Amino acid sequence: MTATTQEFVTKVVMDAAGMVAIRLCAIGNHLGIFKNLSAEGPATSEQLAARMGLNERYVREWIYGMSAAGYLEFDKLTRKAALPLALVPVLVDEGGPAYQGGLFKMFTGLMQPFNELVTAFQKGGGITYETYDPMFWEGLEANSCVRYRNLLVSQWLPEMPDVKARLEQGGSFADFGCGAGRSTVELAKAFPKARFFGFDLFEPNIAKAKANAREAGVEDRIEFRVHDISKGVPEKFDIVATFDLIHDMADPKGGLRALRRAVKDDGIYVLMDVACENDPADNHGPMAVFKYGASLHFCMTTSLAQNGMGLGTVGLPEMKVKEFCMEAGFKTVRRLPIEHPLNVLYEIRP
Ligand SMILES: C[S@@+](CC[C@H](N)C(=O)[O-])C[C@H]1O[C@@H](n2cnc3c(N)ncnc32)[C@H](O)[C@@H]1O
Repeated sequence: MTATTQEFVTKVVMDAAGMVAIRLCAIGNHLGIFKNLSAEGPATSEQLAARMGLNERYVREWIYGMSAAGYLEFDKLTRKAALPLALVPVLVDEGGPAYQGGLFKMFTGLMQPFNELVTAFQKGGGITYETYDPMFWEGLEANSCVRYRNLLVSQWLPEMPDVKARLEQGGSFADFGCGAGRSTVELAKAFPKARFFGFDLFEPNIAKAKANAREAGVEDRIEFRVHDISKGVPEKFDIVATFDLIHDMADPKGGLRALRRAVKDDGIYVLMDVACENDPADNHGPMAVFKYGASLHFCMTTSLAQNGMGLGTVGLPEMKVKEFCMEAGFKTVRRLPIEHPLNVLYEIRP
């Protein structure tokens, strides 16, 4: 074996270890073990199992695995496992800026339809939304919640002073492809005079969005509705937004034409999509692996399931945003000066 081959063997083993660590994290997250360790302190496998009503043998193996992966500290004398303090914001504090629990759920849900995906490679087509375990949607929502709760109002909106002013004055805001409504709810909390609307074609997401609005006490100012943009738009709004929608759409060009019709002539369209390079071959590093994985397992695949364009997660770089928006009848596209590993935002005007 050459030295380079040996290096690749090591790389494969390291990558597999990472995959296993995420799987063990998904179990810890799902069962609430991280939360328990954080709230009730270090424990032996017997104590932890008793505290949580779990099978001790499984808990013991999980503790050793998570310790080997560097997620737990194991004390050989007391036989107790502890969650390092620095990991609490990452694994326990839901909605906080460092929280990664959404990833565990998202990938667990994404990776379940394996045979369907392999069949799509062979025969074309794709996977429908309904096929995914609800855990995927929960993970997506948890991830989105982190971004919108910590960045949307405090860091991204100040880069769009006209949008902010319209919302302060009580304008209308429509969030298309709103998912579980986390972006809409955060904005409604911050702008009490404005009127908010959220549309999504997947009914379970709208049900969740309504529940989230109720929980945040803003349900009287948001109307969430099941609606497919490809069927047209309900009315015109001062501000229209899409957060991670366009690259997922079956017909992104038709969607943008509909969005143009949804924006008043003096209104603004806020487009958030995935940060990527104009040439797909120029997307490198761990974030690119993550994005191509998400694309194959969901974004491209669900679009192809609808006989769609299948742009994929990294299929809407700045060059295409400009081209598609001009074709749809918009006049200006301004990329906001925001650095984020996953997303870019554009302020687009008719
Ligand atoms: C990646 S998710 C993003 C959800 C949400 N905006 C967020 O950031 O969490 C894309 C959403 O767009 C919705 N969607 C896809 N095509 C749509 C269409 N033609 N009309 C309305 N919603 C659509 C999906 O159901 C899904 O909830």
